[in-house]
Amino acid sequence: MRRPSLDVARLDALAPALRIEVLEEATSTNAVAAQRARDGAPEGLLVVAEHQTAGRGRLDRSWATPPRSALLFSLVLRPTVPAADWPWLPLLTGHTVAKTLRGAGYDAGVKWPNDVLLAGADGESKKIVGILVERVDTPTGPAAVIGIGLNVSLTPEELPVPTATSLAIAAGHDPDRTAVLIDLASALVEAYDAWQAGGEEARDRLASSYAAACVTVGREVRVELPAGDSLLGRATGVDRSGRLVVTGPTGQTAVGAGDVVHVRATDQ
Ligand code: BTN
Repeated sequence: MRRPSLDVARLDALAPALRIEVLEEATSTNAVAAQRARDGAPEGLLVVAEHQTAGRGRLDRSWATPPRSALLFSLVLRPTVPAADWPWLPLLTGHTVAKTLRGAGYDAGVKWPNDVLLAGADGESKKIVGILVERVDTPTGPAAVIGIGLNVSLTPEELPVPTATSLAIAAGHDPDRTAVLIDLASALVEAYDAWQAGGEEARDRLASSYAAACVTVGREVRVELPAGDSLLGRATGVDRSGRLVVTGPTGQTAVGAGDVVHVRATDQ
């Protein structure tokens, strides 16, 4: 059965804060948004695709979902906060998406840096949202592309990995994708504007609110580092640069990039 398309007319609710471009198919909404930014698109362009043929994930992975089963979108931003605060954008995004899903009744949490997980009845959490934030150099200065992929109506058979889930699996029915997109995009705009306009105080607030909500903090973790080695220890906090602080046998290490696995003490 063909899944329903997004209701483009209802997306007008997001104007004038956002300008929406809905594509039936794109290679990757991040790639399209980055090109639009290089061509001069202002902050607030939201590129949405019903299907991606070359969706990109973090750490050079791919991201694939059946047509119209997910929300796949990328937002062009042109942040004016100091460059040192840019690493908070992925965390701000994950935190906001998790809060929005919690507001809609889902038991969502953010795993450092920005995977959004849903807690399952068996106590195991599964990934429902992937976020890829990319910096793009453009003729008018650097831009950020915030790419979000949310599994909406995927069935258990369609999940790319057994550690993933979808809103439909969690809720037992297919949610209205258009309504979820409007909620997520509005929440993102609101959180980003407050963070941008609120100065040092807003950035401090985000740091403490993120650290308090992040489901990784307090867990035993194994961090697979980009260089190929891994780090074992307890995640004890998130530093002022948004790095995960891991406390292990050799002391504290702040990790800026890597794949975090939540482990039970017995798995180590
Ligand atoms: C991850 O690896 O967890 C990040 C996945 C990000 C996927 C989204 S889907 C919309 C946007 N376009 C892309 O090509 N990637 C992001």
